[in-house]
Amino acid sequence: MRKRIVAGNWKMNTSIEDGSKLAEEVSKLVLDLGNTDIGVAIAPPFTHLATIANIIDSEKVCLAAQNCASEESGAYTGEVSASMLKKLGVDAVIIGHSERRSYFKEDHATLTKKVNLVLKHNMKLIFCCGEVLDERDQGIQNDIVKKQLEESLFHLSAEEMDNCRIAYEPVWAIGTGRTASPEQAQEMHAFIRSLVKTKYGDSVAESTTILYGGSCKPSNASELFSNPDVDGGLIGGAALKADDFVGIVKSF
Ligand code: 13P
Repeated sequence: MRKRIVAGNWKMNTSIEDGSKLAEEVSKLVLDLGNTDIGVAIAPPFTHLATIANIIDSEKVCLAAQNCASEESGAYTGEVSASMLKKLGVDAVIIGHSERRSYFKEDHATLTKKVNLVLKHNMKLIFCCGEVLDERDQGIQNDIVKKQLEESLFHLSAEEMDNCRIAYEPVWAIGTGRTASPEQAQEMHAFIRSLVKTKYGDSVAESTTILYGGSCKPSNASELFSNPDVDGGLIGGAALKADDFVGIVKSF
């Protein structure tokens, strides 16, 4: 069956000291869980990755990055390439987060290049999609998500899809405290799985992990995760407290 995953996106939070402490706490709490088939990942800021790679038990906690450059290497001041991340011990990269799409104007051409580089350098991809409030109000959320997947993800082969996780993050639920209802999440996740099925067939669709993101916390995680097509979460705010984050892992 498909992998269930809880991933923490720390965004631009924590000093190196606080981040190292948080990673240590998460690693310890996950170790205390004993044998679990739930995959746990954390995505600290770039500046913390090398340090945190040496803190966490990589068998138990996967190290992820929040972004990577759309180019392989060269004169791109301030950018961090996929190959640099791979060499640090990064296992997965989040691409297409709504904050990257809106604040940094990442369009589908840029996202496609990033998707390809992450996979080329043998890392896993966490590809984010989701509609803004106005689109939900208009009832066009399915069209928006379909377009995002078709434009930047569905050029991949079925084999490459093996290394992709999809995160549905309704933008109106991110950092707002307003979570999608379990029904809204299930409806969209089932729709996303149906799109994967149409494009790649039953077996790829059944094995693709689809995460929910947006104001997910210990108190609402089990209700969200109890849906058949919700395979875990991409967690923002609640990933900044080890107890809350691991509380979400436990809620499966
Ligand atoms: P919050 O959990 O803070 O709403 O953030 C979700 C998110 O954007 C994860 O990538």
